[in-house]
Amino acid sequence: MIQSFAHLSPLPFETCWTSPANIAFVKYWGKKGHQLPANPSVSLTLKECVTTSKVTFLAGEKLSVELNLEGTRKDSFGIKIENYLRSLETMIPWVKNLKVKIDTSNTFPHGAGIASSASGLSAFALALTDYLYFMKPDSDPALFHRQASFLARLASGSACRSVYGGFVTWGMSHLEGSSDEYACPLEVHPELSHLLDSVVVVSDQEKKVSSREGHARLNEHFFAEARYAQAKNHFRKAIDALKAGDMEVVGSILEAEALSLHAMMMTSPDSFTLLKPNSLLLMDMVRTFREETKLPLYFTLDAGPNLHLIYPYSHRNKIETFINNELTPLSQRIITDSRGEGPQKC
Ligand code: PMV
Repeated sequence: MIQSFAHLSPLPFETCWTSPANIAFVKYWGKKGHQLPANPSVSLTLKECVTTSKVTFLAGEKLSVELNLEGTRKDSFGIKIENYLRSLETMIPWVKNLKVKIDTSNTFPHGAGIASSASGLSAFALALTDYLYFMKPDSDPALFHRQASFLARLASGSACRSVYGGFVTWGMSHLEGSSDEYACPLEVHPELSHLLDSVVVVSDQEKKVSSREGHARLNEHFFAEARYAQAKNHFRKAIDALKAGDMEVVGSILEAEALSLHAMMMTSPDSFTLLKPNSLLLMDMVRTFREETKLPLYFTLDAGPNLHLIYPYSHRNKIETFINNELTPLSQRIITDSRGEGPQKC
């Protein structure tokens, strides 16, 4: 905990936060300790793909959570939040007397290749931080986002980066102020300050192996240490290139990271494959388009088969014509997003 919130008893409070998804350029894949990353990561916070959560906190006999997603009660998600809150009990002993109601909705469809855990859990962590600050009004306002990022990380690692807009880093690195415990915003070259992300949805089916399971499988991986060393090296190079405005280097790291992430999955002792044949076809088409046109279009992947195509706003006309004409037939749908400014209280 960044600040102490012990020795209080719950008061009623209601708040609402909208928080975005993010796409990692250097991936967090592999954990150490308690929800700490094995290597630093850097991501771009999106604009349109957001979760809005209205959260009510009340005093109760025991901890209970009711969660409604788009108006329908979702007990499986409610239990996840309840377990998460219970895990905070040593830091916030009075969570055991909280009755929490969450009404949440996403702007993007389920299974669209955009992880709702980052937007959803950062929205909840922001609401919780808002509540903690209400309960303890002398809390330092300058630490609000750091506190929210810390709490989001304990729910889902990548969620801690969604607390800030633009480019965001997380994990101990050469950068001043960096930490494994919370994320930090990163200033980049103005040339790269307006990137677009077109998500080419290859399959919207539920993935076979969860991120939690994927992180765990990496611990046993023969190449784990080599992967962490590669990610650290990519991180340094990506930061330098983002600051210098070098899209070519950023793009090459973006693709190498996506392929490494999936190579680790496919070569882990308990091997699994999330890529689909069309994912490979699309990667090939993006690379051929780039070679032929010299336009800066690059792909990345999350833990799923869907491609995130990253390109500068200044080249959107020609690139979007290519995406719409050539890639649409190989996809279920395409969602176009861009760099966002970060969460907002609604
Ligand atoms: O936050 P988690 O535990 O769902 O892990 C996210 C992992 C990746 O999305 C694959 C990479 C990342 O850094 O976002």
